[in-house]
Amino acid sequence: MTLSIAVAGKGGIGKTTLSALLIRALCDEEISPVLAVDADPNSNLAEALGVEASRTLAEIREHGSSPEGSPASGVGRARAVGDEIQRSITEAAGFDLVTMGRPEGPRCYCYVNSLLRRSLDELSRNYRAVVLDNEAGMEHLSRRTTNDIDVLIAVMNPTLPSIRAAKRILELSRELPIRIARRTILVNRVGEDGLPEEIEEAVAALDGERLPGVPQDDELERLGAFEQDVFCLPATSPALAAVRRAVEELSANTYSKT
Ligand SMILES: Nc1ncnc2c1ncn2[C@@H]1O[C@H](COP(=O)(O)OP(=O)(O)OP(=O)(O)O)[C@@H](O)[C@H]1O
Ligand SMILES: [Mg+2]
Repeated sequence: MTLSIAVAGKGGIGKTTLSALLIRALCDEEISPVLAVDADPNSNLAEALGVEASRTLAEIREHGSSPEGSPASGVGRARAVGDEIQRSITEAAGFDLVTMGRPEGPRCYCYVNSLLRRSLDELSRNYRAVVLDNEAGMEHLSRRTTNDIDVLIAVMNPTLPSIRAAKRILELSRELPIRIARRTILVNRVGEDGLPEEIEEAVAALDGERLPGVPQDDELERLGAFEQDVFCLPATSPALAAVRRAVEELSANTYSKT
């Protein structure tokens, strides 16, 4: 069975960092291979994971929607998209990466989008876990990169605007025709003294299961500054320890709830 996790939240609150930490934690726990999906057009998940991304799926989409260079029949085209996705995968130790790239083009790619979605869902079955790093806001969710999410993680910082954004994401997720088994909330960059009362109350009012908070971790900032990836983090990193606890909880309890 595949554990699929989608990470969403306001811009700059740590979605990519958390996605990379989740992938590292899943690899550490041997819940692998992991499929990492970078669904942010301004993507930098590859850097956070220390790999070089190859072709993006947007390039495939362009190709698949043009009359020349793609098979005319539905079955042939579906197979072509599937093959292209296979070729676009970046392989690394413990995980593979696919990068979505820029979603919008001059024409409507709905048909090819739906092929992509199906191909990604099919591809996912070859992995023990899938982690989707989403762009800020909710566009990707409504564009539906996938039909099926086991765990949605709405990430926020200890700030009221990011908590409000998480609330909207949780609400929107209920309106979409996507199966989402668990809606969870995670506060990133928690200070040494925990959360201020007002923030704690706002988080407690959200309609989602609470995952362990991830502390402010200076090692993470240092990683970015020196262009290092999450696999360089020492095993003692407090942020990694918190994400590992979240992974343990998610892998132990998700299927018993569905
Ligand atoms: N727990 C943490 N402790 C310290 N720094 C953190 C933590 N989480 C994230 N950061 C830092 O915050 C910055 C933004 O993180 P990141 O790029 O992951 O956010 P994002 O939500 O993916 O942003 P975007 O919306 O632009 O995609 C990075 O410099 C990262 O190192
Ligand atoms: Mg990001």
